[in-house]
Amino acid sequence: MATGMLHSHYLFVVLFTLIYLIKTILLLSDKDELLEAFKKKTKVAEMVVSFGFLATGIFLLTQMPHIPTMMYVKIVLVLASIPLAVIGYKKKHKLLATLSFVFIIAAFGLAEKVKKNKAGDKITAMSGKEIYEEKCTLCHGNDGKLGMSGAKDLSATQLEHTAIIDIITNGKNAMAAYKSSLSQEQIEAVASYIETDLKGK
Ligand code: HEC
Repeated sequence: MATGMLHSHYLFVVLFTLIYLIKTILLLSDKDELLEAFKKKTKVAEMVVSFGFLATGIFLLTQMPHIPTMMYVKIVLVLASIPLAVIGYKKKHKLLATLSFVFIIAAFGLAEKVKKNKAGDKITAMSGKEIYEEKCTLCHGNDGKLGMSGAKDLSATQLEHTAIIDIITNGKNAMAAYKSSLSQEQIEAVASYIETDLKGK
């Protein structure tokens, strides 16, 4: 649900930015008639896109466990750009219109930055135990002994740390490789969990 919403949000943001990019270019190049025609043609589309953009944005905000400071800056930028855009395009005030466009782009850039930080948080926030429970119990079970689809008993493993890392990273037979879905740190964390909490128990 949240991922679908995130994709819709991106789509709306891209469409919104595109409409504004065209409007800004027309305004700056003094193509007044074209601008009027474009505004008329895209009036409904713009309303739908703006509404979708805000609605999906607000929904996503409500889903965030904690809102990073950067997100507040982004929201202020987006909110500030709205009156600037309304006045800018109505009065054909080039500076205000450009400023509002710059604000939108800046907000977009910040969103990307927030996303990167969030991915970083996730690595440190997720312990080896949580990763194990989410990704590995299906075949290995909570205690490592389940043995689904021929999975080895992790409580009885004789493997060295590096060999465990290698199997998680590259997979083996029925077990998939995790190098693309887990980071190096996450693989380390889950390997340590196996060695300290499952092995020999
Ligand atoms: C689709 C089922 C499946 C999932 C999910 C799975 N494994 Fe495995 N795992 C296997 C199988 C099958 C083997 C035995 C591979 C072989 O040696 O043929 C295995 C072997 C291993 C071994 C080697 C044990 C030994 O002593 O040889 C380790 C370590 C391991 N898995 C860790 C993990 C971790 C950590 C995860 C989660 C990130 C995980 N596995 C998820 C099926 C799975």
